[in-house]
Amino acid sequence: MSQANRSDRVLVTGGAGFIGSHVCARLCSEGREVVVLDNLATGDRRNLDGLEVSFIEGSIASVADVAAAMRGVNKVVHLAALPSVARSLEQPLDTHEACATGTVTVLQAAKQAGARVVYAGSSSAYGDQEVLMKHEQLREDPLSPYAAAKLAGELYCRTFARVFGLDVVVTRFFNVFGPRQPAGSPYSGVIAAFCRNLILGQPVRIDGDGGQARDFTYVDDLVGGVVQCLDADSSGCQTVNLAYGDSVTVNDVYQQLLVFVREQLPAVATPAPVVAPPRAGDVRHSLANTDVAKARFGFAPTVGFAEGLRRTFAYYLAQTRSEHAT
Ligand SMILES: NC(=O)c1ccc[n+]([C@@H]2O[C@H](COP(=O)([O-])OP(=O)(O)OC[C@H]3O[C@@H](n4cnc5c(N)ncnc54)[C@H](O)[C@@H]3O)[C@@H](O)[C@H]2O)c1
Repeated sequence: MSQANRSDRVLVTGGAGFIGSHVCARLCSEGREVVVLDNLATGDRRNLDGLEVSFIEGSIASVADVAAAMRGVNKVVHLAALPSVARSLEQPLDTHEACATGTVTVLQAAKQAGARVVYAGSSSAYGDQEVLMKHEQLREDPLSPYAAAKLAGELYCRTFARVFGLDVVVTRFFNVFGPRQPAGSPYSGVIAAFCRNLILGQPVRIDGDGGQARDFTYVDDLVGGVVQCLDADSSGCQTVNLAYGDSVTVNDVYQQLLVFVREQLPAVATPAPVVAPPRAGDVRHSLANTDVAKARFGFAPTVGFAEGLRRTFAYYLAQTRSEHAT
């Protein structure tokens, strides 16, 4: 039974980030009160333009900041993190502070407030196991400091549920994409980076042979699942994959985006990709089993990969045009 409630006061940590800003938009459109706690490490306050949220600039690793943000809150979507494998190889302690220490701090405050928590876990918990479809019963096998820190967050969720009776849903996201994902940094997601470079007529970088496959999930589909988990009547700690449930290679993404460029930007050059060595900590195949999400939480993604990619390309095209017009 759904417990969506217009009187909900929801704390969204990392709400100024890519996924967080979409979660905030959905919650606001449902008439809920939204508080955002974000230190803007990778997020951008402008992602929340036009939304009625209470914004607190601060860190999830600060007990005082989290206590201030948790006042009167009955539900938490905990997204704040430094979400990059590459960054975690360079700065593992920063990653640990944001992903692990920050999560304990949020859980402790949620426990005191009696709030329900949805935690943004990561498919990186599964590592690179032979099993084609990753299901929630698999043992965890993190391959990077990022994966380890996100998994530490999950373990704290389970422990807080067991020891303190906190209601938590650990959601494991796969490769989320869509509007507002940062496109121009070395830590950018592959679809955002490809869209940006192709629109600008610059070569994309393909790591390895491009045959690595991902379960690319459009952000609106993901947010639907997050909100279902937030409003479900589950107790204790549930762990659930949230993904579209299909596998697409990096080469396939590139080829599909090339089609969009040739159709919509015939004058723009399409130089050959730059081929880089495979990245450390990268997994080869990532595909979710979504049975638990569907059966337990009613998860039903409606946009899908192909339509999501079309919308995402359209977003970056519009954004590039408006930047060049100013
Ligand atoms: N994007 C994906 O494909 C993906 C996949 C798996 C899991 N996730 C998880 O989803 C969540 C959101 O990811 P995203 O892609 O929107 O990334 P993002 O970088 O856009 O969002 C993270 C947000 O957290 C904020 N933040 C970082 N450290 C903080 C701190 N100490 N205190 C407060 N705020 C802090 C950042 O400023 C940013 O706004 C993360 O927990 C990430 O691990 C994302």
